Amino acid sequence: MSLAPVLRAAVIENDENDAMTTVLGIDIGGTGIKGAPADTRSGQLLADRHRILTPHPATPDAVTDVVAQLAKFFDWTGPTGATFPAVVKDGVARTAANVDPAWIGTDAAAKFSKAIGGEVTVVNDADAAGVAEMTFGAGKGRRGLVIMITLGTGIGSALFMDGVLVPNTELGHLKMGEHDAEHLAAESVREKHGLSWKDWSKRVVEYLMMVEALFTPDLFVIGGGVSKKADKFFPHLGEVQTEVVPAQLLNEAGIVGAALAHIQRTGVPHTD
Ligand code: BGC
Repeated sequence: MSLAPVLRAAVIENDENDAMTTVLGIDIGGTGIKGAPADTRSGQLLADRHRILTPHPATPDAVTDVVAQLAKFFDWTGPTGATFPAVVKDGVARTAANVDPAWIGTDAAAKFSKAIGGEVTVVNDADAAGVAEMTFGAGKGRRGLVIMITLGTGIGSALFMDGVLVPNTELGHLKMGEHDAEHLAAESVREKHGLSWKDWSKRVVEYLMMVEALFTPDLFVIGGGVSKKADKFFPHLGEVQTEVVPAQLLNEAGIVGAALAHIQRTGVPHTD
C-alpha cells in the first residue's frame, strides 16, 4: 500500500473534525457583545474578537439584531453558542437582574437561531466562563467543588463538582445584610463609588467567606473583567481559607465557554 492515500484520508478526517468542532462563540454583556469563531478542541479563537456595543435599551429585538450582525461579520450560519447574563433554562431567559425585563420568558436560543440561520445554544454567562476555565484555564484538572465567581457589572457564579456543572446557581444574589451581594461587591460598584482596591477587597472577602461558609469549596476561581487586575486585589484576599486563583482566559472565557456549551449540548465530543 502506498503512503499517499493514508495521508489523504487523515487530512480529510481532520477537515471534518474541524467543521464539527468550530463554533461561533458570542458573549453578551451589559457594555459589549463580543464574538469569534472558536476551536472547541484547543480553546483557541480562530479570528480576532469582534465587538459591538450593547444597544440601550437592550431589548430582545435590539440584542438579537447585534447577534445577527456578529454572525454576518464572520459570514457564519453554523453552530453557535451564546452567553446571557441571567438565569437561562433550555434557552429561555428566566430572570433579568441587569438586562431589559422584556427578556424574562424570551426563548433567546430560538430567537438567535432564527436570526443567524444556524442552531444556537444559550447559557448563563458565568456558567459559560466557568466551563471554559475548567476545560482550558484555572480549573483544568481540578476535582472536588470548584466555584467560579465573576466580578463584573453583577456577580455571577458557576459551581462544579468533580468537573460537572450545576447550572444557574446565582450566588451573586446572596444577601449581605439587606443588600444583594452584587450590589456591594461587584466590580461595577468599585468603579461607581471610586472605592480603593483595599476597601473593595474587604467586601469581596466578606462575600467569599460567606460562600465558603455555605459550600466549603476546594477552589475559588475569580473571573470577570477584573481578573485582569488580579495583582491589585489578590494580595488583600488572605483571610479567605479556600485557595483562590484568578481566571486565566480573561476576556475570552465567555466566547470559548459559549462555544463549548454548544458542543456539550449537541453532543459532539470534546477531544483534547
Ligand atoms: C445575574 C446572573 C449573571 C451575573 C453576571 C447577575 O445579576 O443574575 O445571571 O451571571 O449577574 O453577569
